[in-house]
Amino acid sequence: MPRLVAEKRLVGVSVQQRLLDDDGYAALVQRAFDTVTPENEMKWDTIHPRRGRYDFGPADRVVAFARDRGMTVRGHTLVWHAQNPSWLAEGDFSRRELIGILREHIRAVVGRYRGRVAEWDVVNEAVDDDGRLRDSVWLRGIGPEYIALAFRFARQADPRARLFYNDYGTERPGRKADAVLRLVAALIRVKVPIDGVGLQTHVDARPIPRFVPTLRRFAALGLDVELTEVDVRLPDDRRDERAQARAYRRIAAGCVAVPRCRGIVFWGLDDRDSWIPAAFPGQGAATLFGEDLEPKPAYEAVRRALRAG
Ligand code: XIL
Repeated sequence: MPRLVAEKRLVGVSVQQRLLDDDGYAALVQRAFDTVTPENEMKWDTIHPRRGRYDFGPADRVVAFARDRGMTVRGHTLVWHAQNPSWLAEGDFSRRELIGILREHIRAVVGRYRGRVAEWDVVNEAVDDDGRLRDSVWLRGIGPEYIALAFRFARQADPRARLFYNDYGTERPGRKADAVLRLVAALIRVKVPIDGVGLQTHVDARPIPRFVPTLRRFAALGLDVELTEVDVRLPDDRRDERAQARAYRRIAAGCVAVPRCRGIVFWGLDDRDSWIPAAFPGQGAATLFGEDLEPKPAYEAVRRALRAG
């Protein structure tokens, strides 16, 4: 099985620390990809489970795995509304205190991996489906400035890391994509240190409307674009792997068509370990590899589309 190679682009996969002990899983990650993203290990509930107490173990494991194999790491994620520990989600903090907590967290996490995590999803999913800023502990406690603050803290902690805003549903036109474009343009205007926009690209097998023009709109802001969490889910009662391969091909070819599209990361290595069945009941089989770790038709479709770039 030849690896996925795309000229001038990184190709990656999200991994789960506990699966790295499985030799077949680990070998496949190394064999097919250039970069890994820890799927949960750097989220607040895992890495900062109690106030002022960090548990870097799981994230360290992923970072060491990558280093030992000459792979890079995308860090995910520093600020999100979900997977927060209860001390944070239910805490009663003043605005000042919460800014201090955010600064300290980013300093600790980004600082620990300085030079070893090449890029960070600094802020994840800050916009809701209607295009408003999403309710979260951060918006309630700090106000909209939490976004700019997070990027500034991250830049201070590792001046060389590339910093991303990351969201879902923004790979097609709509209220949400418009809102993210406005948000990011406003950040650039006031010189907030941001290098790129991550489009998660959790989709079903239908063509994404105006996918390439949407990538170009983000690139036109002068930012890098990456497809950061790609998966293509299928209904359980109709697992059409050919249709899925075509959908994956269009996504990979879309990235290759846009020079500023600098990377593509698949969310979950294989169908056994994907988050889709839990998050989208009745759907699944969303990844490039089957439960037996054999490549599905989508794998070859992606490989060819990337190589064509
Ligand atoms: C998912 C993980 O894959 C699951 O293991 C976890 O239970 C929930 O989160 N958008 C994101 C990712 O930014 O962090 C999410 O990952 C999927 C949606």
